Amino acid sequence: MTPVRVLAVASEVYPIVKTGGLADVAGALPVALKGHGVEMRTLMPGYPDVMRLLAGADEIRRWPDYFGGPGRLLAGSHDGLDLFVLDVPHLYARPGNPYVTAEGVDWPDNGVRFAALSRIAADIGHGLVAAFVPDVVHAHDWQAGLAPAYLHYDGGARPGTVMTIHNMAYQGKFDRTLAGAIGLPQHASFDVHGLEYFGGISFLKAGLQLADRITTVSPTYAHEIQSDEGGMGLGGLLRERAGVLSGILNGIDTEVWNPQTDPHIAYRFGAKELSFRSANKAALQQRLGLDPRPDALLLGVISRLSWQKGLDLLLESMPTILGNGMQLALLGSGDAELQDRYQGTARGHPGRIAAVIGYDEALAHLIQAGSDALIVPSRFEPCGLTQLCALRYGAVPIVSRVGGLADTVNETTGFTFGPVTSANLSAALGRASFTFHDKSAWRQLQLAGLATDVSWRNRAGEYATLYRNLVASRGRNA
Ligand code: ADP
Ligand code: GLC
Repeated sequence: MTPVRVLAVASEVYPIVKTGGLADVAGALPVALKGHGVEMRTLMPGYPDVMRLLAGADEIRRWPDYFGGPGRLLAGSHDGLDLFVLDVPHLYARPGNPYVTAEGVDWPDNGVRFAALSRIAADIGHGLVAAFVPDVVHAHDWQAGLAPAYLHYDGGARPGTVMTIHNMAYQGKFDRTLAGAIGLPQHASFDVHGLEYFGGISFLKAGLQLADRITTVSPTYAHEIQSDEGGMGLGGLLRERAGVLSGILNGIDTEVWNPQTDPHIAYRFGAKELSFRSANKAALQQRLGLDPRPDALLLGVISRLSWQKGLDLLLESMPTILGNGMQLALLGSGDAELQDRYQGTARGHPGRIAAVIGYDEALAHLIQAGSDALIVPSRFEPCGLTQLCALRYGAVPIVSRVGGLADTVNETTGFTFGPVTSANLSAALGRASFTFHDKSAWRQLQLAGLATDVSWRNRAGEYATLYRNLVASRGRNA
């Protein structure tokens, strides 16, 4: 069978640059697809970390003026990933987070920065790189949303296009005057079936309108975003395009997340050695200054701190946590007010509540291995990855019944609650506390979690089928 060639376009890719689950998915999917007859290369911006890690990459093209300054397209590989890198220093050679300044505000030229990425994706789609002419261009999130739009407005033969939504809340909204500056026809910015979005333009909307296929990262989220509330302004469009929309669950990289080989944890373990988790629990308690109590139900959280994640509700549930003798280990960063509130709560309850503000990959692994339960009380969650890691590490998930959380956790593997209120969260915490004291019931939950398939194996196959059907329905580069 001839392999399908797919150009993935993503603004972050693990292990090179990561702010959230998008990077995990963009980094793991190409590797998982290798066994499914899909040859995937990934295009990403040349941020400083990328340029450092791909110092030996080959220059394929060079332009004296690419969106206002010199630019180059490079091809190279890193950690099993085949990459195209768009090296445009005036757009990407900036320290820190890929999207925001040190003060946490969006870079004012984000529209141009990510239009440039999509423009080159479309050009590769048209055959710019003879050695890799894709059958499909797969755009991830708003940062890549204009790739299907450029391919559409360029006209002529083109590869098939797929737009994947990882989060409906980030839509890439800009003033409509941007369209001319980034080389899209002015009429497209006025067209309700083009880029137009509530008087401006939206990169995500453009991708959803103009891609051949739309996917999102769980079946339940695929359903939720067709409602006015879940669609966050794009529900109507998604209802119209329901025929080409599907939900494919994320997996996790089961080599990076493997409790039997994990270099970041105190004691490695498998399903037969669940009792060894207690050594990780003790290490976590010690590391975070929590009382060394094996009998206390230790709750873990690893999360961006944003409205989406519902962690303000967990603060409201603090009386339940404290009243039932539980402990909490939270690792997160984001919203300044939430950071302050968690730090304040930790100061008020030393030995019981610990809050580490920041991003710490190694600590995330130890929390998965050492906490008894992992809490994800999201208001909406396209898929969520931390509950999948938790299932694999024997940390019993306590999650709200939304999006991918509803699709991946049930009452045999964890605790679920809904609607998403602090009262319902508290009730779920109460149920968990009750069950925790029944050691054999708790162990059953853990074992059911460990037996759950959270890998990419089958899910990658769903993407492969999607690409293949798309190519079959429209021919290669038709
Ligand atoms: P989202 O992409 O919405 O942030 P996901 O659950 O899909 O949520 O993915 C989050 C990813 O980022 C997971 O791999 C998680 O372990 C990681 N992560 C989130 N916050 C932190 C943090 N503060 N430190 C380390 N890893 C984190
Ligand atoms: C987003 C979502 C999260 C999902 C991740 C990867 O950031 O918030 O639910 O798991 O993308 O698809």
